[in-house]
Amino acid sequence: MKIGIGNDHAGVEMKMQIMEYLKSLGHEVVNYGTDTTESCHYPLIGEKVGRAVAAGEVECAVLICGTGVGISIAANKVNGVRAAVCSDTTTARLVKEHNNANIIAFGARIVGIELAKDIVKAYLDADFLEGRHAVRVAMFEEIENRSGD
Ligand code: RB5
Repeated sequence: MKIGIGNDHAGVEMKMQIMEYLKSLGHEVVNYGTDTTESCHYPLIGEKVGRAVAAGEVECAVLICGTGVGISIAANKVNGVRAAVCSDTTTARLVKEHNNANIIAFGARIVGIELAKDIVKAYLDADFLEGRHAVRVAMFEEIENRSGD
């Protein structure tokens, strides 16, 4: 799978390790930065990765900031993005099964690297369950359409 990854200065070290982990699982990884610990603006990275996912440049993506929250809020402003912050593996599985999340986010200041790897694996191993969940996920797009009113 072709997977995007992006982070702010708080997530650089974890991003490097998650990139290696994804490659070890056989995935192609597209790195959208940042690669330095110099302070940067996470909304810009969240938007860049969100647009890459929405455009189909990558199938899904991983976002990392201090908490996972700010960068996912930015990504979720892009139409078609369903970014979910996860700090546990059960949530990571369910955001794919029920919400068809196309971005998973977590906080480098919240979860350790081993849990972060497990979160990524739980998300990637899960499948969207369709059915009643598809009806609800379609409603996200309806909200986006109404937002243009
Ligand atoms: C950066 O200090 C921090 O605000 C950012 O990484 C993130 O936690 C925002 O949600």
